Amino acid sequence: MVKKEIESLRSLPNRNCMRNCNQEDRTSITEEGICKKVSSVIDENIVRCVGAWSDEKIHWLTRYFSIFTIGMRKKWNLNYIEICCGPGRCIIRESGQEIDGTSLAIINHDFFDSFKKAIFIDNNSDSIRVLNKRIQDLGKYAIAEGVVGDYNDIDGIKRILSDMPSRCLNLVFIDPTDCGIPFTLIEAISDSLVTADFIINVAMGTDLTRNIRQAILEPRYNKVKKKYARFLGSPDYFKRREVIAAAKSNNQRRMRSLFMEEYKKNLSAIGYLHTDTEGVEHYYELLFASKNYRGLDFWRKAQKIEPSGQKRFDF
Ligand SMILES: C[S@@+](CC[C@H](N)C(=O)[O-])C[C@H]1O[C@@H](n2cnc3c(N)ncnc32)[C@H](O)[C@@H]1O
Repeated sequence: MVKKEIESLRSLPNRNCMRNCNQEDRTSITEEGICKKVSSVIDENIVRCVGAWSDEKIHWLTRYFSIFTIGMRKKWNLNYIEICCGPGRCIIRESGQEIDGTSLAIINHDFFDSFKKAIFIDNNSDSIRVLNKRIQDLGKYAIAEGVVGDYNDIDGIKRILSDMPSRCLNLVFIDPTDCGIPFTLIEAISDSLVTADFIINVAMGTDLTRNIRQAILEPRYNKVKKKYARFLGSPDYFKRREVIAAAKSNNQRRMRSLFMEEYKKNLSAIGYLHTDTEGVEHYYELLFASKNYRGLDFWRKAQKIEPSGQKRFDF
């Protein structure tokens, strides 16, 4: 990540982090991703244990946030919504470095005050309690608020969003750990907010890579298959001949690309004609979706600078 970005994430070493904990350690010392052993060096509150790729995700989100805000703030009132926001501070398990997570990276962003309202939603009430304390500490409570909510409870999410100021342009970031968000959530947000661009973190390299082949081929994986069909918005993917052929030949890349193709197709059927993805190492794909070409144009501009600060020439 570029130096200025690292500084803006308030990166600090957390010497209490054991570092490089393996999967087994992690299972015993974390609960829902929150470390039970280590607290923040900034405020002694809870932190999430994350992998080194996390700052790449933050880079793409904040780059888009900058370009979107510069392009739109004179013409529109802007809102920001984050679903799966976490408590705001994270520790990178490989380095023991503590950084702002996506929610605090946005709240601390130079352009955050251009926003009319920002809502941060998570189903973990401890995360929301701590995030609200952090919002208070930063003096951002006039704009930002953390709210407990479950993305499976569509009516609950609609109720939360009914508090958002109307006639605004909304940027919605959804950051789950797996492909568990229902397609009806995207439809409901789109209906409630009218003008909303999405950045959705799709767990292609983790959840999907581990389970998609079995979900396609093995009847005992029916529950997982249903979860993916619910994510995609229809079971059609599982009926496609090329999907079954890719599963039989164990062609992971093809199964994944057909999955994303199906998701984009279903998004375009509800008006999100402009979509694009950006990989976060081999773990995630950040999917951008907008009803307006302008949004995609901003996204492409955001993609021009790599997390390392290097300029890309293929854009
Ligand atoms: C990958 S973490 C995201 C963290 C945060 N965006 C960041 O970068 O610091 C996923 C978050 O989703 C939350 N979560 C899991 N299931 C959820 C659900 N059903 N509804 C809302 N949030 C959920 C977890 O509590 C966790 O904070």
